[in-house]
Amino acid sequence: MKIVGGQAAQPGQFPWQISLRACQRCSHTCGGSIISADWILTAAHCIETNVRTYFVAAGERVLFEDPSNTVPTSLIRVHNSYNNPRRMDNDVALLKLSRSLTFNQKIRPICLHSDGDVQPRPGTPLTVSGWGTTSEGGNTAKVLQIVSLPFKSDAQCRQKLNLAYTMNMICAGYDSGGRDSCEGDSGGPLVFKGKLIGVVSWGRGCARPNQPGVYAKVARYHGWIRQVTGLGSNNNNNNNNNRPQESRPPTNINPSTQITQPIINQPSILGQHQFACTNSGIQPIQVLPNKPGQLNFFADSSYPARADCKWHL
Ligand code: ARG
Repeated sequence: MKIVGGQAAQPGQFPWQISLRACQRCSHTCGGSIISADWILTAAHCIETNVRTYFVAAGERVLFEDPSNTVPTSLIRVHNSYNNPRRMDNDVALLKLSRSLTFNQKIRPICLHSDGDVQPRPGTPLTVSGWGTTSEGGNTAKVLQIVSLPFKSDAQCRQKLNLAYTMNMICAGYDSGGRDSCEGDSGGPLVFKGKLIGVVSWGRGCARPNQPGVYAKVARYHGWIRQVTGLGSNNNNNNNNNRPQESRPPTNINPSTQITQPIINQPSILGQHQFACTNSGIQPIQVLPNKPGQLNFFADSSYPARADCKWHL
């Protein structure tokens, strides 16, 4: 049993999952998530001050299956308020890649969960993935592992974790224990309805009864992520109303499809946007550069296949 109490991921099931290494041939140290072609979100406690460049392996399921595909980072940004005042509060860091990822079946970004999205209820299953240890003090996994864990309310988390639990965290796990993330999963994704809701952060031991795993709450960090990366801010001096109208991507999208289409004025359309449909709410999506003059976006299986949808770019 890996992650603890989990099972092997299918190829391409978690294309946003990366493995973080402190040097090109170093062993796996942490997980992380692709949030755009150039940026990885991970945990602050994964970052060691003496490491200048990390290496990111994207598109892997079996660790080290293709040693040539690691990308070095060009910038490391740990959240300013990490460790301050509590050790594990604001446990998030951003890594910029020295070259952009090319998206494919095995490599793609994940959208960030936000306060405006549907919120999980206590008991709703969330999915965490990683190559972390299979048991407390055990060995790391070779094949990416996944486990589903019930979401807990803030009140439930505080009851189990007391003052160590802050408003910048969410927690998940079974009161009976047995399934959890563990050492080496840190920085990796906790996912709800196809969106990144948490970053693996800490826990007391792993999979112990009444000790839910704790995750940095992604919705708290949209502003910080926008500020550091520029993603979603339309900051390409184009945020006025008379920017040229793009030919918009199609609005009747079938779930689980990838849309590629030519665009005229690429920068104005890149970033985090909203795609709203009558009755089915708002879906933030990321529009990303692929080849010059093209944009790529991914509609996951939760995507509404409806014609009455509009882009908010
Ligand atoms: N701190 C650990 C790491 O660096 C992750 C701990 C998660 N623990 C848990 N019980 N959920 O990989």
